[in-house]
Amino acid sequence: MVSQQQQHICVVGAGTMGRGIAQVALGGGHRVSLVDPAPSQLRAASEDILGRITRRDPDARPEFESRLTAFDSLGSVTGSGETVVVEAALEDLATKQAILGEALALFGPGCILATNTSSLSITEVARGVAEPSRVVGMHFFNPAPAMRLVEVVGGLQTDPAVADAIVELARSWGKEPIRVKSAPGFIVNRVARPFYGEALRLLEEDAASPELIDELLRSSGQFRMGPFELMDLIGLDVNFTVTCTVWAAFNYDPRFAPSSIQRELVAGGFYGRKSGQGFYRYDGETERPVPPAMESSVPTNLVLRGDCPELAILLDRAGLTYERAAGHPSLDLGDRGIVLLTSGRTASAESHTAGRPVVLLDRCLDWTTVTALGVSGTTADLVSAAAALLGQAGVRAYPVADVPGLVLARIVSMLANEAWETVSQRTAAPADVDTAMRLGANYPQGPIAWAEEWRNETVLEILDGLWDEYHDPRYRASALLRRAVRASSD
Ligand SMILES: NC(=O)c1ccc[n+]([C@@H]2O[C@H](COP(=O)([O-])OP(=O)(O)OC[C@H]3O[C@@H](n4cnc5c(N)ncnc54)[C@H](O)[C@@H]3O)[C@@H](O)[C@H]2O)c1
Repeated sequence: MVSQQQQHICVVGAGTMGRGIAQVALGGGHRVSLVDPAPSQLRAASEDILGRITRRDPDARPEFESRLTAFDSLGSVTGSGETVVVEAALEDLATKQAILGEALALFGPGCILATNTSSLSITEVARGVAEPSRVVGMHFFNPAPAMRLVEVVGGLQTDPAVADAIVELARSWGKEPIRVKSAPGFIVNRVARPFYGEALRLLEEDAASPELIDELLRSSGQFRMGPFELMDLIGLDVNFTVTCTVWAAFNYDPRFAPSSIQRELVAGGFYGRKSGQGFYRYDGETERPVPPAMESSVPTNLVLRGDCPELAILLDRAGLTYERAAGHPSLDLGDRGIVLLTSGRTASAESHTAGRPVVLLDRCLDWTTVTALGVSGTTADLVSAAAALLGQAGVRAYPVADVPGLVLARIVSMLANEAWETVSQRTAAPADVDTAMRLGANYPQGPIAWAEEWRNETVLEILDGLWDEYHDPRYRASALLRRAVRASSD
């Protein structure tokens, strides 16, 4: 075995990803060959890589330059059985199989054939290569030098030692490699689907505007971007294609079904930022939604029933005094009604059960710092009273339609459900799913840990509430989550 520093890395494809990967390998001390048949790409790539890697230390250029060589064909590269190929060319099965097959013939059966595919089955890519055991997925995230996650994907034929070697290599590059079994979307592109899909469902129901859904995901959930602004940034066409690919690969499971709103926008060329309009227009300033003014005084004579630490935090933040009493977790506002946290039933359904007006609060990541919450209630008076109370606690109240699970609780519960399904199918371990979502998608919290913080029982209740309301199989709760809840209550 040659030492890491001598190991030769051959990056095939000098586009966005190939350049990033070559830069990472160069930074790791390797001799790097970069291959692309397009001369303009190749020229721009070398300049790009050397410029970025020597930005802080221009004197280091000759050393990096001596280890980076660009080739317009794979056949010109000198390598050996120790070479690690990282293919980052077009997302096309036949192209990838041809490149890996040629590399195998060139470098010999000992070489490692890694592919950066984001959607193809590693098993299927490997099938077209004479030594399928040498083929492994090495899925980087864009921009590769900055994003720490690498999904290391084993197909049915992948030699475990090959996957181990890629894990080691990624780690030596300062990355956080996560092992994944080949499955559609791997972890990140699969578990993230409800972030977009459920937001689109809410929009289809006219539960809230894109601006408001984005605001709630940022302010209550601490996501860096909301789903609609993120789709506009990624490109609606690209995001729609990924959704359709995952949906088809899961045999058209309704969990992944694309939205007709998005289909229509894509059909009209409304791709988002790159076309000047998607869910938002990009010809001026986009304004953040302003909560409606609601005239109400802060309620008094408050009774906090049952064990509800979230409402207690809000009351403390508001500096309000209250009595405590036993009962279903809620805040009793006397004649005006009761305040509940959403558990997946509509306010009307909760009110029917309680026999009193009900206002529901959405959930959030952190009750001590939250600055905005979605609310829905059965009377305008109760919604204003809750808004006044929240206002005193420093929380803006945004009314949304009376839909089960409101906005954040619904989207995060669906993310957690997909995470549990990914674990249940043995695609990845729970901690790895969470790490992948934090590092690969910049989520503020892994969905499995998030569900535990909210209590798995609550998340299951929300999912079952969605099922009860819609009877749509996309809302079936993961059996593994259900079993975990049962086991914890035994
Ligand atoms: N862009 C992303 O965010 C992202 C993230 C993860 C994975 N990926 C995957 O990485 C791969 C590359 O994506 P990209 O965004 O860098 O694409 P890109 O279009 O920027 O670059 C692709 C490059 O491959 C070259 N190429 C085409 N045929 C080739 C061949 N036969 N041999 C060598 N090079 C060839 C093209 O000239 C081009 O320079 C795809 O499989 C993609 O799915 C992309």
